[in-house]
Amino acid sequence: MTEFAFSVSLMTEVLDHIKNSKDVSINSIKEMYDSWVPTYDEDLRKHNYRYPAKASEIISEHFSDKNVSILDCGAGTGLVGVELYRLGFKNIAAVDISSKSLAAAEKKGVYKKLVCAEVGKGTLPFDDKCFDAVMCSASFMPTHIRPECLPELVRIVKPGGIIVVLMAQRYIEVVAGDEECFCKYYQLEFEEVTQDLEGSKKWKLISKNVIPNLMLNKAALTFVWKVL
Ligand SMILES: C[S@@+](CC[C@H](N)C(=O)[O-])C[C@H]1O[C@@H](n2cnc3c(N)ncnc32)[C@H](O)[C@@H]1O
Repeated sequence: MTEFAFSVSLMTEVLDHIKNSKDVSINSIKEMYDSWVPTYDEDLRKHNYRYPAKASEIISEHFSDKNVSILDCGAGTGLVGVELYRLGFKNIAAVDISSKSLAAAEKKGVYKKLVCAEVGKGTLPFDDKCFDAVMCSASFMPTHIRPECLPELVRIVKPGGIIVVLMAQRYIEVVAGDEECFCKYYQLEFEEVTQDLEGSKKWKLISKNVIPNLMLNKAALTFVWKVL
Protein backbone atom coordinates (compact mmCIF):
# COMPACT_ATOMS: atom_id res chain seq x y z
CA MET A 1 0.00 0.00 0.00
CA THR A 2 1.48 3.28 -1.07
CA GLU A 3 -0.84 5.74 -2.74
CA PHE A 4 -3.84 4.25 -0.90
CA ALA A 5 -2.71 5.03 2.64
CA PHE A 6 -6.10 6.23 3.84
CA SER A 7 -9.05 5.08 5.78
CA VAL A 8 -10.55 2.71 3.27
CA SER A 9 -14.01 3.23 4.66
CA LEU A 10 -14.02 6.54 2.80
CA MET A 11 -14.52 4.87 -0.55
CA THR A 12 -16.34 7.73 -2.22
CA GLU A 13 -13.62 10.24 -1.42
CA VAL A 14 -10.93 7.83 -2.53
CA LEU A 15 -12.53 7.23 -5.87
CA ASP A 16 -13.07 10.91 -6.39
CA HIS A 17 -9.34 11.36 -6.06
CA ILE A 18 -8.35 8.68 -8.51
CA LYS A 19 -11.15 8.86 -11.05
CA ASN A 20 -9.41 11.09 -13.53
CA SER A 21 -6.15 9.24 -13.48
CA LYS A 22 -5.88 6.61 -16.19
CA ASP A 23 -2.50 5.72 -14.75
CA VAL A 24 -3.55 4.04 -11.53
CA SER A 25 -2.24 0.52 -11.95
CA ILE A 26 -4.49 -2.47 -11.62
CA ASN A 27 -2.04 -3.74 -9.03
CA SER A 28 -2.77 -0.70 -6.84
CA ILE A 29 -6.48 -1.42 -7.14
CA LYS A 30 -5.87 -5.03 -6.19
CA GLU A 31 -3.82 -3.96 -3.16
CA MET A 32 -6.46 -1.47 -2.11
CA TYR A 33 -9.20 -4.12 -2.11
CA ASP A 34 -6.93 -6.77 -0.58
CA SER A 35 -6.26 -4.46 2.37
CA TRP A 36 -9.92 -3.45 2.68
CA VAL A 37 -11.23 -6.98 3.23
CA PRO A 38 -11.35 -6.97 7.06
CA THR A 39 -13.80 -4.04 7.17
CA TYR A 40 -15.31 -3.92 3.66
CA ASP A 41 -18.68 -5.53 4.40
CA GLU A 42 -19.23 -3.50 7.55
CA ASP A 43 -18.07 -0.25 5.92
CA LEU A 44 -20.47 -0.73 3.05
CA ARG A 45 -23.30 -1.64 5.39
CA LYS A 46 -22.73 1.66 7.21
CA HIS A 47 -22.89 3.45 3.84
CA ASN A 48 -26.35 1.95 3.29
CA TYR A 49 -24.99 0.06 0.28
CA ARG A 50 -27.93 -1.34 -1.68
CA TYR A 51 -26.23 -2.40 -4.94
CA PRO A 52 -26.29 -6.14 -4.08
CA ALA A 53 -30.02 -6.08 -3.31
CA LYS A 54 -30.72 -4.21 -6.56
CA ALA A 55 -28.46 -6.56 -8.53
CA SER A 56 -30.25 -9.65 -7.32
CA GLU A 57 -33.64 -8.01 -7.89
CA ILE A 58 -32.72 -7.43 -11.55
CA ILE A 59 -31.61 -11.05 -11.98
CA SER A 60 -34.89 -12.24 -10.42
CA GLU A 61 -36.90 -10.07 -12.76
CA HIS A 62 -35.24 -11.70 -15.77
CA PHE A 63 -35.04 -15.32 -14.68
CA SER A 64 -37.63 -17.50 -12.98
CA ASP A 65 -35.35 -20.56 -13.41
CA LYS A 66 -33.05 -20.54 -10.37
CA ASN A 67 -30.56 -22.86 -12.10
CA VAL A 68 -29.32 -20.23 -14.52
CA SER A 69 -25.56 -19.70 -14.48
CA ILE A 70 -24.48 -16.27 -13.30
CA LEU A 71 -21.05 -14.64 -13.28
CA ASP A 72 -20.56 -12.05 -10.54
CA CYS A 73 -17.98 -9.87 -12.26
CA GLY A 74 -15.85 -7.86 -9.82
CA ALA A 75 -17.44 -9.92 -7.06
CA GLY A 76 -15.26 -8.57 -4.26
CA THR A 77 -16.14 -10.09 -0.89
CA GLY A 78 -19.29 -11.70 -2.28
CA LEU A 79 -22.10 -9.39 -1.17
CA VAL A 80 -23.96 -9.86 -4.47
CA GLY A 81 -23.52 -13.64 -4.32
CA VAL A 82 -25.09 -13.69 -0.86
CA GLU A 83 -28.16 -11.82 -2.10
CA LEU A 84 -28.52 -14.00 -5.19
CA TYR A 85 -28.18 -17.15 -3.11
CA ARG A 86 -30.80 -15.88 -0.66
CA LEU A 87 -33.21 -15.59 -3.60
CA GLY A 88 -32.50 -19.19 -4.62
CA PHE A 89 -29.83 -18.75 -7.31
CA LYS A 90 -27.17 -21.36 -6.62
CA ASN A 91 -25.20 -21.58 -9.87
CA ILE A 92 -22.96 -18.56 -9.33
CA ALA A 93 -19.31 -17.97 -10.28
CA ALA A 94 -17.14 -15.06 -9.16
CA VAL A 95 -14.26 -13.26 -10.81
CA ASP A 96 -12.16 -10.51 -9.26
CA ILE A 97 -8.62 -9.16 -9.29
CA SER A 98 -8.37 -9.16 -5.49
CA SER A 99 -7.45 -12.63 -4.23
CA LYS A 100 -8.10 -11.65 -0.62
CA SER A 101 -11.58 -10.40 -1.46
CA LEU A 102 -12.25 -13.68 -3.24
CA ALA A 103 -11.03 -15.62 -0.20
CA ALA A 104 -13.62 -13.71 1.87
CA ALA A 105 -16.24 -14.41 -0.80
CA GLU A 106 -15.41 -18.13 -0.75
CA LYS A 107 -16.05 -18.26 3.00
CA LYS A 108 -19.62 -17.11 2.39
CA GLY A 109 -20.23 -20.47 0.71
CA VAL A 110 -22.41 -19.16 -2.10
CA TYR A 111 -20.15 -19.48 -5.17
CA LYS A 112 -19.56 -22.66 -7.17
CA LYS A 113 -16.37 -21.32 -8.68
CA LEU A 114 -14.07 -18.38 -7.88
CA VAL A 115 -11.52 -17.08 -10.37
CA CYS A 116 -8.84 -14.52 -9.64
CA ALA A 117 -8.31 -12.60 -12.88
CA GLU A 118 -8.25 -9.13 -14.30
CA VAL A 119 -11.37 -8.21 -16.23
CA GLY A 120 -10.12 -6.14 -19.10
CA LYS A 121 -9.31 -6.44 -22.77
CA GLY A 122 -7.75 -9.88 -22.28
CA THR A 123 -9.37 -13.27 -22.47
CA LEU A 124 -11.14 -14.48 -19.35
CA PRO A 125 -10.75 -18.15 -18.39
CA PHE A 126 -14.35 -19.01 -19.28
CA ASP A 127 -15.74 -20.82 -22.31
CA ASP A 128 -17.73 -19.09 -25.02
CA LYS A 129 -21.47 -18.75 -24.26
CA CYS A 130 -21.26 -20.36 -20.83
CA PHE A 131 -23.27 -17.93 -18.66
CA ASP A 132 -26.92 -16.90 -18.70
CA ALA A 133 -26.06 -13.64 -16.99
CA VAL A 134 -23.08 -11.50 -16.10
CA MET A 135 -23.62 -9.10 -13.22
CA CYS A 136 -21.27 -6.17 -12.64
CA SER A 137 -22.16 -4.44 -9.38
CA ALA A 138 -20.07 -1.36 -8.58
CA SER A 139 -17.12 -2.81 -10.44
CA PHE A 140 -17.41 -0.52 -13.47
CA MET A 141 -15.80 2.78 -12.56
CA PRO A 142 -12.76 4.79 -13.48
CA THR A 143 -9.54 2.91 -12.64
CA HIS A 144 -11.55 -0.30 -12.06
CA ILE A 145 -13.21 -2.41 -14.74
CA ARG A 146 -13.25 -0.49 -17.99
CA PRO A 147 -15.86 -0.67 -20.76
CA GLU A 148 -13.23 -2.13 -23.10
CA CYS A 149 -13.93 -5.52 -21.47
CA LEU A 150 -17.54 -5.64 -22.67
CA PRO A 151 -16.88 -7.56 -25.93
CA GLU A 152 -15.18 -10.24 -23.81
CA LEU A 153 -18.22 -10.38 -21.52
CA VAL A 154 -20.44 -10.75 -24.59
CA ARG A 155 -18.28 -13.72 -25.69
CA ILE A 156 -18.98 -15.68 -22.51
CA VAL A 157 -22.75 -15.07 -22.39
CA LYS A 158 -25.24 -17.34 -24.15
CA PRO A 159 -27.40 -15.79 -26.88
CA GLY A 160 -30.52 -14.54 -25.12
CA GLY A 161 -28.60 -14.07 -21.89
CA ILE A 162 -28.03 -10.72 -20.24
CA ILE A 163 -25.21 -8.45 -19.13
CA VAL A 164 -26.04 -6.10 -16.27
CA VAL A 165 -24.00 -3.11 -15.13
CA LEU A 166 -24.83 -1.17 -11.96
CA MET A 167 -22.63 1.84 -11.59
CA ALA A 168 -22.53 5.25 -9.93
CA GLN A 169 -24.26 7.75 -12.17
CA ARG A 170 -21.91 10.64 -11.43
CA TYR A 171 -18.91 9.06 -13.20
CA ILE A 172 -20.50 9.01 -16.65
CA GLU A 173 -23.24 11.66 -16.34
CA VAL A 174 -23.02 15.18 -14.96
CA VAL A 175 -24.96 15.14 -11.69
CA ALA A 176 -25.90 18.42 -10.00
CA GLY A 177 -23.74 18.93 -6.93
CA ASP A 178 -21.37 16.13 -8.00
CA GLU A 179 -20.05 17.68 -11.22
CA GLU A 180 -16.44 17.25 -10.19
CA CYS A 181 -16.86 13.46 -10.21
CA PHE A 182 -17.77 13.32 -13.88
CA CYS A 183 -15.06 11.43 -15.75
CA LYS A 184 -14.94 12.32 -19.41
CA TYR A 185 -12.57 9.64 -20.66
CA TYR A 186 -14.61 6.92 -18.97
CA GLN A 187 -17.90 8.26 -20.31
CA LEU A 188 -16.52 8.41 -23.86
CA GLU A 189 -15.19 4.87 -23.69
CA PHE A 190 -18.47 3.64 -22.20
CA GLU A 191 -20.51 5.24 -24.98
CA GLU A 192 -18.20 4.08 -27.75
CA VAL A 193 -18.02 0.45 -26.67
CA THR A 194 -21.71 0.06 -25.79
CA GLN A 195 -22.82 1.69 -29.05
CA ASP A 196 -20.39 -0.40 -31.12
CA LEU A 197 -21.88 -3.57 -29.66
CA GLU A 198 -25.39 -2.30 -30.40
CA GLY A 199 -24.42 -1.24 -33.94
CA SER A 200 -22.79 -4.58 -34.72
CA LYS A 201 -25.87 -6.38 -33.32
CA LYS A 202 -23.90 -8.21 -30.67
CA TRP A 203 -26.36 -7.04 -28.03
CA LYS A 204 -29.46 -4.93 -27.51
CA LEU A 205 -30.13 -2.50 -24.68
CA ILE A 206 -33.16 -3.75 -22.74
CA SER A 207 -33.26 -1.11 -20.03
CA LYS A 208 -31.43 1.81 -18.54
CA ASN A 209 -32.65 3.28 -15.27
CA VAL A 210 -31.56 5.81 -12.70
CA ILE A 211 -31.96 4.52 -9.15
CA PRO A 212 -31.70 7.19 -6.46
CA ASN A 213 -29.89 6.68 -3.17
CA LEU A 214 -28.35 3.32 -3.98
CA MET A 215 -25.47 4.15 -1.69
CA LEU A 216 -25.87 6.99 0.77
CA ASN A 217 -27.57 9.71 -1.28
CA LYS A 218 -25.82 8.80 -4.54
CA ALA A 219 -27.74 7.59 -7.56
CA ALA A 220 -26.79 4.60 -9.65
CA LEU A 221 -27.43 3.69 -13.26
CA THR A 222 -28.60 0.20 -14.14
CA PHE A 223 -28.05 -1.11 -17.65
CA VAL A 224 -29.36 -4.44 -18.93
CA TRP A 225 -28.29 -5.67 -22.37
CA LYS A 226 -29.52 -8.81 -24.07
CA VAL A 227 -26.82 -10.73 -25.92
CA LEU A 228 -27.92 -11.57 -29.48
C1 LIG B 1 -16.52 -1.54 -5.13
S1 LIG B 1 -16.00 -3.22 -5.24
C2 LIG B 1 -17.56 -4.02 -5.59
C3 LIG B 1 -17.57 -5.45 -5.12
C4 LIG B 1 -18.92 -6.16 -5.21
N1 LIG B 1 -19.36 -6.30 -6.59
C5 LIG B 1 -19.95 -5.43 -4.39
O1 LIG B 1 -20.96 -4.99 -4.94
O2 LIG B 1 -19.74 -5.34 -3.16
C6 LIG B 1 -15.16 -3.31 -6.81
C7 LIG B 1 -14.52 -4.67 -7.06
O3 LIG B 1 -14.03 -4.69 -8.40
C8 LIG B 1 -12.77 -5.34 -8.40
N2 LIG B 1 -12.04 -4.90 -9.59
C9 LIG B 1 -11.67 -3.63 -9.90
N3 LIG B 1 -11.07 -3.60 -11.09
C10 LIG B 1 -11.05 -4.88 -11.55
C11 LIG B 1 -10.58 -5.49 -12.74
N4 LIG B 1 -10.04 -4.77 -13.74
N5 LIG B 1 -10.72 -6.82 -12.87
C12 LIG B 1 -11.30 -7.55 -11.90
N6 LIG B 1 -11.77 -7.04 -10.75
C13 LIG B 1 -11.66 -5.70 -10.59
C14 LIG B 1 -12.13 -4.94 -7.09
O4 LIG B 1 -11.10 -5.82 -6.71
C15 LIG B 1 -13.33 -4.96 -6.16
O5 LIG B 1 -13.49 -6.21 -5.54
